[in-house]
Amino acid sequence: MLGPPGSGKGTCAHIISELFDLPVITTGDILREAVANETEYGKVAGAYMNRGDLVPNNIVNGIVRDRLMKPDIDKGFILDGFPRSVAQADALDNILKEKKVKLDHVVFIVLEDQKIVGRLSLRRSCPECGAVYHLTSNPPKANGACDHCGAQLIQRDDDKVDVIKNRLEVYRRNTQPLLDRYEKKGIVRRFRGDNPLEKIPGLFRELLS
Ligand code: AP5
Repeated sequence: MLGPPGSGKGTCAHIISELFDLPVITTGDILREAVANETEYGKVAGAYMNRGDLVPNNIVNGIVRDRLMKPDIDKGFILDGFPRSVAQADALDNILKEKKVKLDHVVFIVLEDQKIVGRLSLRRSCPECGAVYHLTSNPPKANGACDHCGAQLIQRDDDKVDVIKNRLEVYRRNTQPLLDRYEKKGIVRRFRGDNPLEKIPGLFRELLS
């Protein structure tokens, strides 16, 4: 899943996961868990994430590599938030070559900046299962609790306006150039990030089948 912060990568990844019964690997969630557990790399990653900067490649590439070596990915998988730079895309190519797997689709989620800022300030996330809500467009059924696992929902530290602006800048500088690379392979599928939520499963069934 490629696209600017807050465009709906996580939301769409979870919908595709249910449709095709595939695991989602979200580098942001894995890093947030490491930060919460104060692991060695979590302590390093937290400072980068709070500023909205990219966490160093040696940490992120290692996380993805370890995850892609687990057996549940053999039937396919969804990468959400990785790769985010040319160096990460090179690392991914190497891992996929080693696993003899090819990328079928790069879903590129398109959404304008002003919509992104409005969205992220009203986002609430589940720290347990990763479900994502929006206080007006996709609210949880019970106030403040996750519909799926009942955990207390949180607002992310990096969903403040200044940090959001830096995340958009970082995205434009590092991640957007990857589009060209995947366009050349003919695997980019563009998808509006503001499609009505109830229509998204049907649209993806058509786009990815
Ligand atoms: P990460 O967690 O990946 O954040 P991000 O890329 O900025 O993306 P978001 O999770 O903010 O948004 P999203 O596109 O998933 O949108 P969502 O579905 O939530 O990364 C965080 C940080 O970790 C990075 O800044 C970096 O520091 C570090 N990191 C992660 N990966 C890294 C890597 N590979 N290398 C280095 N560092 C890395 O939707 C947003 C809101 O909109 C929600 O409220 C949702 O309910 C709502 N919404 C979504 N779709 C719709 C819709 N169709 N209609 C109405 N509302 C919708």
